[in-house]
Amino acid sequence: MSSEIDWSKLGFDYIKTDKRFLAVWRDGAWQPGTLTEDNVLHISEGSTALHYGQQCFEGLKAYRCKDGSVNLFRPDQNAARMARSCDRTLMPSVPTDMFIDACQQVVRANDRFIPPYGTGGALYLRPFVIGVGDNIGVRTAPEFIFSVFCIPVGPYFKGGMKPHNFLVSGYDRAAPNGTGAAKVGGNYAASLMPGLEAKKRGFADAIYLDPISHTKIEEVGSANLFAITEDGKFVTPKSNSVLPGITRLSLMQLAKERLGLDVIEGDVFIDKLDAYKEAGACGTAAVITPIGGIEHNGKLHVFHSETEVGPVTKKLYNELIGIQTGTIEGPAGWIVKV
Ligand SMILES: Cc1ncc(COP(=O)(O)O)c(C=O)c1O
Repeated sequence: MSSEIDWSKLGFDYIKTDKRFLAVWRDGAWQPGTLTEDNVLHISEGSTALHYGQQCFEGLKAYRCKDGSVNLFRPDQNAARMARSCDRTLMPSVPTDMFIDACQQVVRANDRFIPPYGTGGALYLRPFVIGVGDNIGVRTAPEFIFSVFCIPVGPYFKGGMKPHNFLVSGYDRAAPNGTGAAKVGGNYAASLMPGLEAKKRGFADAIYLDPISHTKIEEVGSANLFAITEDGKFVTPKSNSVLPGITRLSLMQLAKERLGLDVIEGDVFIDKLDAYKEAGACGTAAVITPIGGIEHNGKLHVFHSETEVGPVTKKLYNELIGIQTGTIEGPAGWIVKV
């Protein structure tokens, strides 16, 4: 099968790989999990995940290094975020050790699907927890499933590391004190229509403004925003309805420690985009996608260029990818070997 994969043509599409990890929570505890070839779940029609959105998920990548070894990037951070998502949705959290061990098992069992070093691809891991079991009332489920599957992926946005344009949406993806900071399906269900509207109009995705005043940028599709001010500061929105991205967190540290930039978690006003010389979308899937322009109220604001990648964005990208693929030493604890 892997011999049939054209690594250079990988996008972000489902491919059935060999094995996935599955564990069940029953009688107050996670039961020992196993790897299985079966990619179909058989669950009760009354499962809370189906009716009340009681579920959450994660996304992280395994990278093939030059020496053939495999790196996971900050999986402890994904475990911690999934634990917070589970708390928010009344699901039992998965201990960090169990989470990382499941990811490692899945990567090892699907080694032939890991894109070779230098192709720009990676093995995307999708851990999730869902409420299952017979139920009908709006309450937490009697049982839960934790699973991790994987797919080989290339760039999330077609064309890879080149600037993309985004469209400001009139819709909100999350409420001010809602679930925006948790990685739960409901936020993504709310984003499907705005995302499609943006794509139909030729944009890469929708941009969401803050749900209170609709004056500040919060999120770029399923990625976080960063912008570089005219005087070289790294700015990223601060809000409790934004998903705290691990790429964003990492870039904040790299911008400060390796590029020597001032880092600000603050407001990025949609009517003050002139203050920035570069902007980008960052996330596990998006990596760093430079933002060419943002359209708001019929007017396109272009940052650095619609075709060229800005110099700070390029430096951040090289540093991040270098650490992930093992050519640059990362801060302590960022890389977990498989
Ligand atoms: C809504 C949203 N914001 C931000 C991110 C970026 O988070 P991370 O860097 O942890 O992938 C993601 C992707 O996972 C996302 O879905």
